[in-house]
Amino acid sequence: MEIQERKMKVEKRQSVVLVPYPFQGHLTPMLQLGSILHSQGFSVVVAHTEFNAPDYSNHPEFVFHSMNDGLQGRDMSMPSLENMYDLNENCKAPLKNYLVRMMVEDGDELACIVYDNVMFFVDDIVTQLRLPSIVLRTFSATYLHSMLTILQQPEKYLPFEDSQLLDPLPELHPLRFKDVPFPVIDNTVPEPILEFCRAMSDIGSSVATIWNTMEDLENSLLLRVQEHYKVPFFPIGPLHKMAPSTSSTSLLEEDDSCIEWLDRQAPNSVLYVSLGSLVKIDDKELIETAWGLANSEQPFLWVVRPGSVSGFQWTEALPEGFEKTIGERGRIVKWAPQKQVLAHPAVGGFFTHCGWNSTLESICEEVPVICRPILADQPVNARYLSQIYKIGLVLEATERSVIEKTVRKLMLNEEGKEMKKRVVDMKQQIVAGMQIDGSSHKNLNDLVHFISSLPS
Ligand code: UDX
Repeated sequence: MEIQERKMKVEKRQSVVLVPYPFQGHLTPMLQLGSILHSQGFSVVVAHTEFNAPDYSNHPEFVFHSMNDGLQGRDMSMPSLENMYDLNENCKAPLKNYLVRMMVEDGDELACIVYDNVMFFVDDIVTQLRLPSIVLRTFSATYLHSMLTILQQPEKYLPFEDSQLLDPLPELHPLRFKDVPFPVIDNTVPEPILEFCRAMSDIGSSVATIWNTMEDLENSLLLRVQEHYKVPFFPIGPLHKMAPSTSSTSLLEEDDSCIEWLDRQAPNSVLYVSLGSLVKIDDKELIETAWGLANSEQPFLWVVRPGSVSGFQWTEALPEGFEKTIGERGRIVKWAPQKQVLAHPAVGGFFTHCGWNSTLESICEEVPVICRPILADQPVNARYLSQIYKIGLVLEATERSVIEKTVRKLMLNEEGKEMKKRVVDMKQQIVAGMQIDGSSHKNLNDLVHFISSLPS
């Protein structure tokens, strides 16, 4: 589509087309960004896959377009390399056809396309159509920086020996070899995974990057990452706090009944336990976690996502009579309204896999954490939570005795109280960054101006 042709169309509200990656931890920040851009006067179109389509009724302010992703019948419970590549291939034609139709038939004025870094196929399409694009980074800058550093010189880091696991990763303090931010197989990262991560960390012809983070939180590494990409960057997070809409972005049904249960608990007494939307554990870990929580004698609200225990539908692997043993002191649900839970005064700690959204949501509600990272960016986030921000205890092993001890330390001991004080301070920094003269607020104004000024 020629730029000139687009100029001839009738003046309308400028549209921004969002292309999210269809997993919860990515879809949520993209919809939150959409809500922010809509409140700033843009029309927002969400071009999404059929798989994990968002619930339209929660976002009447957006226009939705469903793309045939060709993945029907696939096991998508974990994003495999094959599925991610196929998603990128299969969505090319549907997105291109849709954008052309928007511009030619509907006469829409497309300001830009914003896409998740995992949906890198978008770069091909926008290049063909000569449209400006912006990449949304849903991860932390810290993670991206560690990934880029290793990708630039993989031979410096890989393979490594077992004896090196606790050694520092060169130039990546405080990370260790065991925190390498890629799936590791036999102490190395297979080339196809490195290749995929190269594609995902490349921004192609994008004219800018948007980040779900805040300068005050990751300033020096954000600057390093910007030096690498050499395009304007806009850290405007935390998106869930910057977004005016509080509508649910959940793909699973939230069990609100846990809020009534929380209402009956003492302030700061409850440990909230959730390992996010993707990771799985085995039945042994489920059982150890159950007894660790029970033996800690702290009230707990535990999200066990259906399918998150390998080989089981839900909680069938729990010991018989477990729920009876814990009685009113514990509550197990399939999926919780997490932001509301973390904001509840009864919640005093969060046992988390350290996904980036969970990390930001926890800091914003002043909740210190127990870190149980499993994959991707989680070990990096856990290291920062425990070593740099000092608001998290790392779970050193998954045996019940270790879980019991760590829960007590966080919820009852002086160390936990110190963490609580630090996370309260961090929250203040975040609040300051969201004020009119704060960094995220200012960056958002700059972003709106930047998008509005893109040549159309
Ligand atoms: C995945 C990766 O695992 C993570 O490391 C990466 O940063 C993003 O993609 P996910 O497992 O989805 O993340 O974790 P996270 O980023 O924390 O996002 C989970 C989202 O689901 C959060 O916004 C959280 O509020 C929400 N959630 C989780 C619920 O609403 N209810 C729940 O019961 C559990």
